Amino acid sequence: MQRPGLILLLSALLTPPISARPRRLRPEQPLNNRPIIGVLTQEVTDKEMKPYGSTYIPSSYVKYIESGGGRVMPIQLNQTSEEHEKIFKSINGLLLIGGASDLEKSEFSHTAQIYFRLAVKANDLGDYFPIWGTCMGFQLLTVLVAEENLLSKTVAENISLPLNLTSEASSSRMFEDFPAELIKALTEEALTGNFHHYGVTEQVFKGNQKLSSFYSMLSTNKAENGVIFVSTMEGKTYPFYGVQWHPEVNRFQWSPLYDFPHSRNAVRVASLLAEFFVNEGRKSLHHFTQVQEENRALIYNYNPIYVENFTAYEQVYFF
Ligand SMILES: *[C@@H]1O[C@H](CO)[C@@H](O)[C@H](O)[C@H]1NC(C)=O
Ligand SMILES: *[C@@H]1O[C@H](CO)[C@@H](O)[C@H](O)[C@H]1NC(C)=O
Ligand SMILES: *[C@@H]1O[C@H](CO)[C@@H](O)[C@H](O)[C@H]1NC(C)=O
Ligand SMILES: *[C@@H]1O[C@H](CO)[C@@H](O)[C@H](O)[C@H]1NC(C)=O
Repeated sequence: MQRPGLILLLSALLTPPISARPRRLRPEQPLNNRPIIGVLTQEVTDKEMKPYGSTYIPSSYVKYIESGGGRVMPIQLNQTSEEHEKIFKSINGLLLIGGASDLEKSEFSHTAQIYFRLAVKANDLGDYFPIWGTCMGFQLLTVLVAEENLLSKTVAENISLPLNLTSEASSSRMFEDFPAELIKALTEEALTGNFHHYGVTEQVFKGNQKLSSFYSMLSTNKAENGVIFVSTMEGKTYPFYGVQWHPEVNRFQWSPLYDFPHSRNAVRVASLLAEFFVNEGRKSLHHFTQVQEENRALIYNYNPIYVENFTAYEQVYFF
């Protein structure tokens, strides 16, 4: 609980927030009400999952996007830069999921970098393109900006925590549509599920010029070893968002072996953030050139597999 921050936050909610706006978004631009979010597949590293495919997406992430009113296109790794560029022009946002890939050497991080560069360039030209990173996706978003791996041990494994919101959270875009009582709950109740061993400490974040000029730190948390890590961030001028915690588990993962937050407020937090990100995707006018091409690309072409008996997920898509 953090009284001064809360008062600051509530007072900020009463006055119109002067939030940093992603650059060059034209307010008169029409919205795209059929947004497609690309979800980068990830290399299977888990031995038990290997028989089913070489890459995967847990269905909780797919449902997360779908619950916000968007559609999902799984993006396969190991395609040419030209193929990725074509996909980039067809989708309206990118979700980088959690997992266990190498942040610098994996095909996952290599492919994420292709999209990150395209997104920076597009946004610079007024072509809005949002990116969301969860857990490892968050970590990757720091590596892509800092151009070095700044992670250190910040274990918070299987533990739900309230967020320690910073003063910047009150003028953030991510939490802009949160009612005041939900913001209060977010700082007092354990609504965010943590499953990570590494992270970026508050100290490293503040000390790294590239990171702290690119992202606003919206929340911090304390790891098991007492270190303070950054738990939520958003781009100051780019529509890029990162959470070190896992909003998708609140509504779509149920294993009793893990501490997944399922309270009413936990569900509302996850719903609002999923809607927020899909709304960001609505500002992108990228599209497929042909309907048939779009149909073939979407997740509906694939069936998830039941994996509850050997993973923390209920269902996973394998590719
Ligand atoms: C990608 O290509 C590399 C090199 O050919 C190969 O080792 C790797 O298994 C491939 N990964 C996937 C996910 O197909
Ligand atoms: C929240 O963060 C502030 C600023 O870093 C710190 O002073 C405060 O002790 C933190 N509160 C909790 C509950 O961790
Ligand atoms: C995760 O945390 C929950 C709640 O604290 C606990 O019941 C469960 O045993 C833990 N699971 C693992 C795998 O440590
Ligand atoms: C999990 O359950 C499925 C479906 O019942 C079964 O085919 C599979 O062998 C099981 N896997 C393990 C590792 O127990």
